[in-house]
Amino acid sequence: MEGGGEYNRNSSVQAAGMSQAIPLFQHSAERVLLAPAPEPVVIADYGSSEGRNSLASITAAIRALRSRAGPGRAISVVHTDLPNNDFAALFRTLSDSPDSYVRGGAIFPSAIGQSFYEQILPSNSVTLGWSSWAVQWLSRTPAPIPDHVYPDATTDAVTRTAYDNQAADDWRTFLTHRDRELRDGGRLVVMTMASIDDGDFGLRPLMRAMIDVLTGLVKEGFISDDERRLMAIPIVGRRKVDFLAPFAERGQFAKLAVEYAELFVNEDHFWGEFERDHDASNFGARWAAFSRASVSPTLALGLKSRQKERVVEFYNRLEAGITIRLAEAPEPMRVPLVCIVMTKGSVS
Ligand SMILES: C[S@@+](CC[C@H](N)C(=O)[O-])C[C@H]1O[C@@H](n2cnc3c(N)ncnc32)[C@H](O)[C@@H]1O
Repeated sequence: MEGGGEYNRNSSVQAAGMSQAIPLFQHSAERVLLAPAPEPVVIADYGSSEGRNSLASITAAIRALRSRAGPGRAISVVHTDLPNNDFAALFRTLSDSPDSYVRGGAIFPSAIGQSFYEQILPSNSVTLGWSSWAVQWLSRTPAPIPDHVYPDATTDAVTRTAYDNQAADDWRTFLTHRDRELRDGGRLVVMTMASIDDGDFGLRPLMRAMIDVLTGLVKEGFISDDERRLMAIPIVGRRKVDFLAPFAERGQFAKLAVEYAELFVNEDHFWGEFERDHDASNFGARWAAFSRASVSPTLALGLKSRQKERVVEFYNRLEAGITIRLAEAPEPMRVPLVCIVMTKGSVS
């Protein structure tokens, strides 16, 4: 993510997708088995970024937990992300946002800068786990992508298989560690990008615009062909069947069982705005800003020389080019998402 509050400012696409997942998280908080008092109730937020989009889900869970555990029960909220995440922006959000859940007493926020593909919290310590828009990121880039920057857009079968295998391994690894961290009776809600059963990951117009602009930057000589080929965005849209695969044989994975899993297509609210105001430039600019905040820093890793000015110029050119391309022929953007609710062990 770009940092400097950029993700917080340009993540309304992700926020829009929450309306399906938050009620599931609240429902989980209403039913989860609580640790006996005076043990704190621990909520973990896996892949929090700068925190803005976590506020609504964590607030909903705290409200439900408070009504069950009483006003004095300590609630610990642990936000986790990669070490280079902008944690300063996260803590500013928690202290300054009018929507912050840190109101009233006995709520203790903290953060961990470590990959969720490892165990990052003590065994049997987490009551409720939440992860939104994060598990689509793989633990590593398994292969270069010869003909695109998105694995879901490649036509190269070998590359596609490398990403599919990595996605399957990473999902099992993620589940293994969450299984260890959750308490018996704990619950985990994951909302993440997905593919429809025919393999459609959505975002087609944005992916086309991005590769066109990058090809244009090569032609202009701003980036080299080698640099373009080093650019890969290791995010995947798994199908519902892929999410359920680790549970298929025994009906559970370690002690985790799936209580609910649903695929849905996120509403493109930028398209809704465009239908009202017919402002194609604004439509292009909104999606280009989303793309900049979410994936431009990953693309910039392909640049061989990364002086700050060059990187910023790269971000600016990419954003401007995508804005123009999308504005030329606006099309609604499909973003398939999946919501999965899992329980560990005893279920109430
Ligand atoms: C698109 S943001 C989602 C932020 C927020 N949860 C939301 O719903 O808007 C994805 C976040 O996942 C984080 N992430 C990606 N891979 C991760 C990993 N292996 N461990 C922890 N966080 C990771 C990224 O750094 C980024 O902050």
